[in-house]
Amino acid sequence: MDLNGKFITFEGAEGSGKSTQAGLVLNYLESKKLPVTLLREPGGVKISESIRKLLLDVKNTGMGDECETLLYMAARAQMVKEVLQPQLNSGKIVLCDRFLDSTIAYQGYGNGIDVKTIEQLGLFAAKGIAPDLTILFDIQPEKGLSRAGTKKDRIESRSLEYHGRVRGGYLDLAKKYPGRIKLIKVDADKEEIFKRVKSHIDALLAI
Ligand code: TMP
Repeated sequence: MDLNGKFITFEGAEGSGKSTQAGLVLNYLESKKLPVTLLREPGGVKISESIRKLLLDVKNTGMGDECETLLYMAARAQMVKEVLQPQLNSGKIVLCDRFLDSTIAYQGYGNGIDVKTIEQLGLFAAKGIAPDLTILFDIQPEKGLSRAGTKKDRIESRSLEYHGRVRGGYLDLAKKYPGRIKLIKVDADKEEIFKRVKSHIDALLAI
């Protein structure tokens, strides 16, 4: 597979500000007239957005951990086929708000699904496509959840212990893949955080 674009993902716990930063990176790259798209997971295309509704609906209390994992993968597979792969093939820079690391952190470390199984399913769903760069925003669950607002979805409503395991998962991933994953502590205002994000983006894209 010859992918000549660049794939950059934004990861982190609830309320870490990753979506805001992804938007700032989009504006920055557009201002440089670079060909860039921003997607989100789960979602990004019609079928995956429908799956997102199922996944986040608080009414779906009976959803099993295996079903949840496979639905995240199903949403991913459709997004990869419809946009990610074609856009990377055509040389675009694709920014994605969450990707496979989220499944490892939330369904693997959070729910206890075997991480190797998730990695294998991830390869299948994403056709082997992996990020060139991942920016991971680290925040304490207490802080993040309070920033996430009061109307919580099915995943946000989980316990502080659950979100603590998710954070631990992310930190393990950052240790395991120090070349790809750049860890940013959310300990400053969004302008300062963006400066740190931008330095990693500039290094990857050589701009
Ligand atoms: P968002 O809040 O970043 O839009 O993401 C939606 C929720 O889905 C968030 O609580 C994290 C969760 N999630 C998983 O549990 N596993 C996944 O693979 C992905 C992509 C998201």
